[in-house]
Amino acid sequence: MTKPLIVLGVTGGIAAYKSAELIRRLKEQDFEVQVIATAAALKFVGDSTFSALSGNPVISDLWDKPHDVEHVNIAKKASAIIVAPATADFLAHLVYGFANDALLATLLVAKCPVVLAPAMHTEMWENPATKENIATLRRRGYLIIDPATGALTGPDSGVGRLPDPSEIADVVKQVVNRKSNNLPKDLVGLNVLISAGGTREKIDPVRFIGNGSSGKQGRALAQSAIARGAKVTLVGANLNVNVPAGAEFVSADNANLMKEEMILRAPNADVVIMNAAVADYYVENPQTNKIKKGQDKINISLTKTIDILSELTKNKRVNQYFVGFAAETVKNQTELIELSRLKLASKNCDLIVGNPVGHDLGIGQDLNSAVLVSKNLTEIVPEVDKLTLADAIWDFVAKDLAKV
Ligand SMILES: Cc1cc2nc3c(=O)[nH]c(=O)nc-3n(C[C@H](O)[C@H](O)[C@H](O)COP(=O)(O)O)c2cc1C
Repeated sequence: MTKPLIVLGVTGGIAAYKSAELIRRLKEQDFEVQVIATAAALKFVGDSTFSALSGNPVISDLWDKPHDVEHVNIAKKASAIIVAPATADFLAHLVYGFANDALLATLLVAKCPVVLAPAMHTEMWENPATKENIATLRRRGYLIIDPATGALTGPDSGVGRLPDPSEIADVVKQVVNRKSNNLPKDLVGLNVLISAGGTREKIDPVRFIGNGSSGKQGRALAQSAIARGAKVTLVGANLNVNVPAGAEFVSADNANLMKEEMILRAPNADVVIMNAAVADYYVENPQTNKIKKGQDKINISLTKTIDILSELTKNKRVNQYFVGFAAETVKNQTELIELSRLKLASKNCDLIVGNPVGHDLGIGQDLNSAVLVSKNLTEIVPEVDKLTLADAIWDFVAKDLAKV
């Protein structure tokens, strides 16, 4: 069986060196890779690197093989096109439908999904011209992987970095899977806020009360939402997983920080998913020095934390959608459904994802099962990997939102 073909467009940004690694990561996902590089891209990385890693000659000159009409042939064969890095200059050309190089001409022909991963200096990214170009391209159905924040060229740092190549390859894989299943980009235009991971409450400078949440389910929810076209903010507590490419990341490692960050961001979100395992109790006065081993018994007094989900839904706007997670140790599914129903009503949510935990179930694991409980519907998702469960949750939410 022939492998699906991914066209990797490389444009002339400093992050072009990361495209070499992206070829490897795409090949690991069992894709055939064809690089199309702009003239400026080849000033950063030589075409030998791209052709040796991809196993295909690099296309860079529109006039190289006119008899093959390569830009048309390749565009028709591609399962998806990813442009990484995408320069500000390239984005502007794409907006205006320029076709004066091999990459732009291919994109103008392409009918497959196109993913763009812009990377540039913060000032370029925040320039109104780039902002408008990005908004236009999003509206036209291009999937944009927002740049990450961190070190830029030279001494600068800020938003504008190309995300990790393996994370970009994950987005491409999901986009190709969704395309082969004929799934729509049903979250385009939505702002999604997701909390993930497990909070830690300090006992003393080196000890804490925590839980085994890894952040895998929250990461999967973010990944799935990005592949469906949403803009995602991930508020994470002590994540053991990478932040997916395209998500804006906010760190909130304890219950109080998590509450503050979620309250700050929820008003701008269309969908809020409270997936983090937040401590129900915290130590009001943690010791400033490490507690010494001395007494046979010590008492730690715990105070109840504020219920973030209930706090958020107090200010719920019309058409705003709230999803809560109920991690429960239960005897059976009926009990899980009942507990989820109670939580749905008491927390004023639109959907509760009831999640059996304990005895190697759920928290920290790769697999998960759930009951999805809304006012009118209950759906059972058997044990699946966390990305499949995330897709099922978004299917449920998207259907509900479409009814509004
Ligand atoms: C050293 C250097 C680094 C650059 N890095 C970037 C960058 O990261 N992002 C960007 O949008 N443009 C960057 N540029 C500007 C682009 O190379 C320039 O706009 C070029 O025309 C892009 O051509 P292309 O879009 O056809 O590849 C850089 C230029 C230089 C000289």
